[in-house]
Amino acid sequence: TILVLDFGSQYTHLITRRLRELNIYSEMLRCDQKLAELSWKPKGVILSGALFELNVPVLGICYGLQEIAWHHGKNVLAGEKREYGHATLKVERHSGKEAHIDRLFRGLEDDMEVWMSHGDKLSQLPPKFLTIATTTNAPFAGIAHESQEYYGIQFHPEVTHTPRGTDLLKNFAVDICKARQDWTMEKFVDKEIARIRALVGEKGQVIGAVSGGVDSTVAAKLMNEAIGDRFHAVMVDNGVLRLNEAKTVKDTLTKGLGINLTVVDASERFLGLLKGIKDDPEKKRKVIGNTFIEVFDETAEEIAAAAEGSSRAGKIEWLLQGTLYPDVVESISFKGPAVTIKSHHNVGGLPERMELKLIEPLRELFKDEVRDLGRNLGIPEELVMRHPFPGPGLAIRILGEVTPEQVRIAREADDIFITEIRAAGLYNQISQAFAALLPVKAVGVMGDKRVHDQVIALRAVETTDFMTADWFPFDGQFLKRVSRRIVNEVQGVCRVVYDITSKPPGTIEME
Ligand code: XMP
Repeated sequence: TILVLDFGSQYTHLITRRLRELNIYSEMLRCDQKLAELSWKPKGVILSGALFELNVPVLGICYGLQEIAWHHGKNVLAGEKREYGHATLKVERHSGKEAHIDRLFRGLEDDMEVWMSHGDKLSQLPPKFLTIATTTNAPFAGIAHESQEYYGIQFHPEVTHTPRGTDLLKNFAVDICKARQDWTMEKFVDKEIARIRALVGEKGQVIGAVSGGVDSTVAAKLMNEAIGDRFHAVMVDNGVLRLNEAKTVKDTLTKGLGINLTVVDASERFLGLLKGIKDDPEKKRKVIGNTFIEVFDETAEEIAAAAEGSSRAGKIEWLLQGTLYPDVVESISFKGPAVTIKSHHNVGGLPERMELKLIEPLRELFKDEVRDLGRNLGIPEELVMRHPFPGPGLAIRILGEVTPEQVRIAREADDIFITEIRAAGLYNQISQAFAALLPVKAVGVMGDKRVHDQVIALRAVETTDFMTADWFPFDGQFLKRVSRRIVNEVQGVCRVVYDITSKPPGTIEME
């Protein structure tokens, strides 16, 4: 394992990520993590300044380089000019007894494109350190200790703007730290299944909600591999799912993946409660969230009562949750002592309410890794690459009151849009796409009749983190085809518009 210590850089999790792409297991911890509390010894450390007592190689990145300098001589910092953006790095090679310090740049070009993002920089080399790289603005863009395996770099190897950055991290982790590249998805599956079995025991039972999305499906399949029918999946049909969604998910999960699934059709209950809510999207969210918890809770009780009778199983004591590593990172990132660290949320406080213990098999994984895990478990590619879908479903894509008729229109239009996106081979280039139904009427002519019908707004975005997003640049022919189909095939719609708002200032959803 390579330990990545976070000093509050927005990029820290990317370092962990790049190492994992090299199949090297890596964990991120806050820089104020007490070393004595670590139950394992890392093969190497990235970032930090206070870690020299561990006696393993250290790579300081950006602020980490300055930490190394501070530790070895202080008074070497100057913080005048900010440097931000592309830079060309000149690598300096050494010979004789100093040649070993070049290992960080072995196999890389002498002129390297790198990404800089820092305020302070070194103005002087700490004692016993040598320069291994420079840029026009930073005379000490890379430094190395003459005899210890301590390296510092001012640029960011973990971002894509440093094209050879992953190779540099590999030089550090594999050549210098001797980390093994053996952290593969196959191993993860074996290890995680063994961990789940040990945790849950011979008779333990687990319950968990599935939505048809990637994370919950992958988590459910993993549980199913580990404990078979002692895992109970529950899908709640809230009446605002996509067209044919409940049936499709049921078929895929039960017939396709062998998961023990109960589908609860609570659509009338949800739609009854949504009736009359017109101008308050947050209220829609609240009603759907609370009702979901009630329905899940009731279903869990029924499943528990039914399971009680069977002698081979014990009580349901566990709740499965599809928490991912970004949620965990969010709660452990070091943002300075003054900031309260957000603890990641459990779905509506379910575990406390139901007195269940949490089981989170995906909490070590990034989204791409969850998709890989899904493929590994035999989940179809189409499902593994699915766009996210919000818990409140179509209710926040139907602007205004949610009625069965409005749900029908939104569903049919959305289905045509997504079908055409798939047919055009664009689905995987788009991060999220949907049709929203606007609560206004416009005039149109259909055949030789004047109509007064509703407007559908199409939305499709590209994003990596869902925090910022750009609208997808479809070509005109594609939009023409979708528009024609929706107006012709969906009763109640006479116009289609395309939403060309980025996030920010827009959000991805319409409400
Ligand atoms: P926004 O609209 O905030 O969306 O730009 C960012 C991502 O979050 C999803 N989203 C939700 N997911 N419950 C959810 O489970 C919600 O209330 C909710 N609101 C937005 C949205 O689909 C997008 O992927």
